[in-house]
Amino acid sequence: MTKGDLEAVRAKDAAHYLHPFTDFKALEAAGSRIIVRGEGVYIFDAEGNRILDGMSGLWNVALGYGRRELADAAYRQMMTLPFYNSFFQTSNIPAARLAAELASIAPPQMSRVFFANSGSEGNDTIVRAVRRYWELLGQPQRDVIIGRHNGYHGSTMAGASLGGMAGMHAQGGLPIPNIVHIEQPYFYELGGDLTEDEFGIKAAGWLEEKILAVGVDRVAAFIGEPVQGAGGVIIPPRTYWPEIQRICDAYGVLLISDEVICGFGRLGTWFGCQHFGVRPDFITFAKAVTSGYFPLGGVIVSDRVSEVLIESGGEFNHGYTNSGHPVGCAIALENLRIMKDEKILENVSNVLGPHLAARFHALADHPLVGVTETLGMVAGLVLMSEKQKKLAFDPTLEVGMICRRHCFEQGVVMRAVGDRMIIAPPLVMTTREIDDMIGVIRRCLDLTLQELTAMGAF
Ligand SMILES: Cc1ncc(COP(=O)(O)O)c(C=O)c1O
Repeated sequence: MTKGDLEAVRAKDAAHYLHPFTDFKALEAAGSRIIVRGEGVYIFDAEGNRILDGMSGLWNVALGYGRRELADAAYRQMMTLPFYNSFFQTSNIPAARLAAELASIAPPQMSRVFFANSGSEGNDTIVRAVRRYWELLGQPQRDVIIGRHNGYHGSTMAGASLGGMAGMHAQGGLPIPNIVHIEQPYFYELGGDLTEDEFGIKAAGWLEEKILAVGVDRVAAFIGEPVQGAGGVIIPPRTYWPEIQRICDAYGVLLISDEVICGFGRLGTWFGCQHFGVRPDFITFAKAVTSGYFPLGGVIVSDRVSEVLIESGGEFNHGYTNSGHPVGCAIALENLRIMKDEKILENVSNVLGPHLAARFHALADHPLVGVTETLGMVAGLVLMSEKQKKLAFDPTLEVGMICRRHCFEQGVVMRAVGDRMIIAPPLVMTTREIDDMIGVIRRCLDLTLQELTAMGAF
């Protein structure tokens, strides 16, 4: 691409493209970095810079870029049947096969799938299905869903309401009625003098307190991500999820595991709930189901819920034009085949996850790093002004953004969530590439430290 072509694209981008989750004015001033190509675990920008994608796109490009098998699967399906809907008692071959495949890798109590196009739409579907379930059981007042502060469940009206992002709730009159939140299980910030195990029980107890405060007969469901992703890779203590399960069972509350990030091998299991040993009623999935090669999402539903929806008869008045899109489903089938054939999950569990953990935890000796946490192929660290005293930086310094800028400039994508720096690399990374990535991250921590020292902020 010539410099002139690039400037023309940048100008179009600035003049016409409203980017998601973006300060439009700030972007207009700065201009976009245009990404033109991907190969393996690398992306390339229009200026020819090669950047190691430590975030797998947006947590989704699990198998990396340039997988011909996925492109071929799309091409074959497009030439055979590019689209047909699943309304009006019709179906298509990839959708039926993918539903069965997802049921086969999901926990045993779950055997049915509803397709959507994204994680947000999956969660919207769940809100409607949960409320219909309780209506059909003669308990229509049971319509309150409990989520968590700093949880992320998407950006549609229901998705953003289930999530606990204060900045999102501040715009557009959210949350919608009958969605309430409890505190997140963030040990480093909220653990106090407790052990991790003790804190996990305490944090789960906040759910019980909320159920009792709202009224047992009002609470329909609880939703959480096994590991909070967009909130900054918050990994709960191992005692947390089993206690959440106990509480949901005790009060008959449906359990929703939002696996949009944790699904498909990210934690070394098909779904994060399998790692933590929970038995959800709903799993939200999206992103890595196609490794990001096509927008596809949906919901895996437990038999106890789907049997009520089916047995009652009557239409579930909900669906999307592209529910069960044959091209997306064909790509997902091929993606899952590759994950099995290449033993991606085993590799994450036995090789890549432990390797990433060892290398990432070594960053904890850096003067800026307060704590490091990893699980499978996600990792997070927090930048602290005085790590011994757990003293955070002044938020107006936007220290995370300084570090993120250095990472981009040095050739690694690392995301900043406030002052938490997080990664979720492709599941096909080699141990050598992990070493390279950690080397660059350390260099960027040094550069951030230098910049803060020069500003007099450290
Ligand atoms: C846990 C979780 N749920 C839901 C979503 C929303 O998915 P989408 O952006 O595909 O609507 C996301 C997106 O990052 C997510 O991380």
